[in-house]
Amino acid sequence: MEKRKKIINVGLIGLGTVGTGVARILLKKRRTILQNTGLDFRLKKVCVRHLKKRRPISLKGIEVTDQPKKLTQDASLQQIIELIGGLGPAERIIREALENDKDVISANKALFAERGVGIYQVSKRTRNYIGLEAAVCGGIPVIQGIKEGLASSRIDQFYGILNGTCNYILSQMSKFKTSYQDALEAAQKKGYAEQDPTLDVNGSDTAHKLAILARLAFKLEIDYKAIHCEGIEGITAEDIQYASEMGYSIKLLAIAKRHSAKSIELRVHPALLDGKHLLANIAGVNNGVLIHGDETGEVLFYGKGAGEKPTASAVVSDMISIALLSQSGIMANEAIYGKAKISKISSVESRYYLRFQCANRSGVMGSLTRSLGRQGISLSSVKQPEVQHAKSAPVVILTHKTREDKLRRALKKIQSSKGIKGKPVILRIEGREDSAV
Ligand code: NDP
Ligand code: HSE
Repeated sequence: MEKRKKIINVGLIGLGTVGTGVARILLKKRRTILQNTGLDFRLKKVCVRHLKKRRPISLKGIEVTDQPKKLTQDASLQQIIELIGGLGPAERIIREALENDKDVISANKALFAERGVGIYQVSKRTRNYIGLEAAVCGGIPVIQGIKEGLASSRIDQFYGILNGTCNYILSQMSKFKTSYQDALEAAQKKGYAEQDPTLDVNGSDTAHKLAILARLAFKLEIDYKAIHCEGIEGITAEDIQYASEMGYSIKLLAIAKRHSAKSIELRVHPALLDGKHLLANIAGVNNGVLIHGDETGEVLFYGKGAGEKPTASAVVSDMISIALLSQSGIMANEAIYGKAKISKISSVESRYYLRFQCANRSGVMGSLTRSLGRQGISLSSVKQPEVQHAKSAPVVILTHKTREDKLRRALKKIQSSKGIKGKPVILRIEGREDSAV
């Protein structure tokens, strides 16, 4: 059977790390994509901020402008790819493209997590598609996996390592004893980090991605601001070492659990993850998402979570899906059944890793464990390396499961005691269930 060819004219806004990767694929692999899909993507226009900047690819024959309107208002373009990042200008560009009857592909997790509700309304009203595969987990087709692969499953929970920069930093610190700062600089050089890397290391980027995945998985509107979020800035080589000695690795996790139809738990924080857990050995820039669906059981998505090539590959995958879907006219997977009620972190139950610096004198350990005991917190391990003449010693405690508010009450009491130096380190523990008897 002879294949029919469909031409799709494309406008690309943003030619940085990801935009350059997309342009490269569209220019170099146009014939391959056409042979594989019957779709002929023609990159017609590119928009950048600095017209005079030297580019690592040749844009011969392509109109280059610094005016997004020249793309969003061009009636000959069917798809607009937004890869500038940030909120205000990107939102205006996307809304205008949708209003002008174009499908939009974006990697902008910050924008869709924080202001997605209004943009989705425009897309619904104008019946134009939005593709966000590149916004979550780089080259891993996790959005398509949830939308289509798991469409008949009710998703109860998922765990994710969703930020390549943080996973790269933690892996470098753990495997090669690299300092936090050197590892962050290397991640920036490799093009993994956001323009403002604070968003990576303080957990916001992971929370943005969690909001996008949770909306799809639970089909509920998510208030991004209600997600509890902690980053990796305070993780030290010392804690990585203690965790490793006890069989854990430290990972920045995104955790999503469904408690009832609309009540869910969403949190982002570093955690000690049992070394045998499927996500524990995901290293470097790689990401992983472990999803539990009622039909499928556990499904694991794994691959590179950031960088030019994997992210550009996800953009192109969206361009193909949307081009095929738009021929059908079906607006699939857009059902949202109300607003999520997100649990407060104070009511969440977890196990904890606690590290205190305790004065080296009698009674300090007793008072510490008494304060925990008074809140009904049971301990599963207590460790203090031998010290002789030092003024203080580290004490590492692992607890059984307890509610966060009980732990906070105990810590308030402990921190007011003279025997405890500085602020304790508090990390949650995941993946190794146990219970006090
Ligand atoms: P970069 O900073 O590398 O590139 C941004 C590009 O946008 C530049 O080409 C810049 O132009 C252009 N630009 C910025 N503002 C405007 C504007 N107002 N009008 C026109 N062009 C503009 O960003 P990335 O490629 O790293 O990221 C792009 C998006 O992809 C972000 O939303 C990011 O969160 C997301 N993302 C990034 C990943 C990564 O690994 N880097 C992975 C997944 C998602 P100029 O070159 O002239 O300065
Ligand atoms: N800065 C992000 C990360 C890019 O490191 O994961 C991919 O979304």
